[in-house]
Amino acid sequence: MRILPRFWIVLLCLIFGPITSSTAHGFFQGFSCYFMKCCGEEKAFSAADLKSDLDKKLFGQHLARDTVLRAVTRFMKNPDPEKPLVLSFYGGTGVGKSFITKVIADNVYTDGINSMSVRLFSSQHHFPHVDKVALYKDQLKSQIQEIVSRCARSMIIFDEVDKLHPGILDVIKAYLDYNANIDGVSYRKVIFIFISNTEGEIINRKMLHFMNAGKNREDLCLYDFEKELSDQAFSNKKGGFWHSDLIARGMIGLHVPFLPLEFRHVKMCVQAELNKRGLGNDEELAIKIAHKLCYLSTDREGQQYGARTNELRDLSEESNIFSKKGCKLVTTELDMDT
Ligand SMILES: Nc1ncnc2c1ncn2[C@@H]1O[C@H](COP(=O)(O)OP(=O)(O)OP(=O)(O)O)[C@@H](O)[C@H]1O
Ligand SMILES: [Mg+2]
Repeated sequence: MRILPRFWIVLLCLIFGPITSSTAHGFFQGFSCYFMKCCGEEKAFSAADLKSDLDKKLFGQHLARDTVLRAVTRFMKNPDPEKPLVLSFYGGTGVGKSFITKVIADNVYTDGINSMSVRLFSSQHHFPHVDKVALYKDQLKSQIQEIVSRCARSMIIFDEVDKLHPGILDVIKAYLDYNANIDGVSYRKVIFIFISNTEGEIINRKMLHFMNAGKNREDLCLYDFEKELSDQAFSNKKGGFWHSDLIARGMIGLHVPFLPLEFRHVKMCVQAELNKRGLGNDEELAIKIAHKLCYLSTDREGQQYGARTNELRDLSEESNIFSKKGCKLVTTELDMDT
């Protein structure tokens, strides 16, 4: 990377000082980006590679896998999209929402999620105080404008959307519309991802309902969850989407449910982690670790209760017991055991 010598920076500041600060900033940025790397390097997108990554790495999420593959492929193959890609991920903790976001980034940028073109906003970290919402809104506007003016193909992620103040989300609605072009910056190539986990319980309940009705997990389709999810996100008073124009005006392109993970999926997560650590296949250890996690089950009335699997019942591969924290604690349990 070539760095501008201090002399040139001072000279440029003197020349462009009198110009309004935002114009000067934009010009200076464009100029310095000519010399320095300002965007993450993009990969030549391959739908086959994304499919292979999702097939190999993401367990138990056929709806998310298929929807993301279709949506991202269509978007990336379109040289001139009319609007940004807007995905909204819902599901309990540890079921793969952040994980799939990383997989997408890995397939779009050489540096994956660490690319300079990726920006992650996390509600509690970036916007913790309600009394500072007005300030956050201004900062967010300029941060989004700044990254997209540098990198047309940016990826902007909002995590913990359920804890986000609706006013902050409303700021970005202008960027999500058709042919969004604000102050000369086009947002049509941006990938926006919203992640929320308040709807995990609804998904779990719905999932049990289908399973009790004899439906296979793999037979469930997006339609089975879509309406309920967008209705819930819209009416959930605690969630940031509440009464937000994003939902009312249909700006969220796809509502993607992440299903609760079962024992067999947790086992696969353990196995994947063992392979990552170079420890090879160890079925016995994978079962042992998967048993250490806490699972949710239901009684006949559908009431949920938590229990450790080995105290509960003999787990068969078909058991419809859901891991309470998905695969989240797999690495911790493995660290303690190996
Ligand atoms: N469906 C899955 N397939 C494969 N690995 C998974 C899956 N779900 C979770 N994992 C593993 O568990 C880890 C934690 O999952 P992740 O960070 O995606 O959870 P999350 O859904 O974003 O939860 P939270 O809402 O708490 O942030 C991942 O890094 C990954 O290793
Ligand atoms: Mg997450």
